[in-house]
Amino acid sequence: MKHKLRSFLIVPAFILVTTLSGAALAQDHSNHTGNQGQCKGCTGQGEMKGQMKGQMKGMMGQGEGQMQNMQTIHALFDQHDKITRTVKNTETGVETLTESDDPKVQALIAEHAWAMQKLLENKQPIRQWDPLFAELFKHADKIKLQITKTPKGVKVVETSSDAYVVKLMQAHAQGVSEFVKEGMPSMHKTHELPGVKKEEKAFLGRGDGITTCPVTGEPINKDFSAEINGRTVYFCCASCRDAAKKTPELYLKQ
Ligand code: HEM
Repeated sequence: MKHKLRSFLIVPAFILVTTLSGAALAQDHSNHTGNQGQCKGCTGQGEMKGQMKGQMKGMMGQGEGQMQNMQTIHALFDQHDKITRTVKNTETGVETLTESDDPKVQALIAEHAWAMQKLLENKQPIRQWDPLFAELFKHADKIKLQITKTPKGVKVVETSSDAYVVKLMQAHAQGVSEFVKEGMPSMHKTHELPGVKKEEKAFLGRGDGITTCPVTGEPINKDFSAEINGRTVYFCCASCRDAAKKTPELYLKQ
């Protein structure tokens, strides 16, 4: 799997870099005067190659780094129930303590915290589809992370002189606590920016759950029912019943 993923990242990177470098070389050679080894482009060939190798290494390094970050994050989600976490908001930011009795998980937490600090310092964003993380990285230069190893994990003190960024850091710390509490189901949840009210989900109820299905409005089938909000609610089929059990507020008024 790791090898497949690596080739998935490296091959396109390689094609991209060689294409770009080929174009750069061709371009440089356009002012070649015909005397072997005389023009600037030629003499710079070695240098240019060196630069391109450096660029390619950098891109591959980044790809591999992000892959390692995601593997650590997945492992943290897998073992979220072995993690304890406390969060204290301060005037200039937030203080968190994230620990575990399992030495392997302790190492994962520390590895992750330091890796994320590096991403912030290098302004290398992660999880850009999540508004809160995208905004956090936009203000990465205003965030100071102080990570201290503890016997069972890490203590992190995050500070900023910018009041808005303080709110972002506090919201992010709550987001991490949600990851620890809920595990994988929370991995794909987006987090609104502080102060932005989560959009009220539209009420989708179409039936009364007595004669008509709350989800579809179709006539109910007595075989499909569930106890919701302290009453027996009937549905037209199993998937409607399951959908309503999962998010009753969307289909049933209290
Ligand atoms: C169970 C899962 C996770 C755990 C236990 C965890 C743990 C931590 C800890 C301890 C910190 C240091 C700051 C703090 O304590 O708030 C941190 C920071 C960070 N984490 Fe995670 N994390 C998890 C999931 C994720 C995920 C899914 C992402 C994004 C893909 C992520 C990205 C970050 C970033 C960017 C930071 C630095 C930003 C900041 O602290 O303001 N984490 N995480």
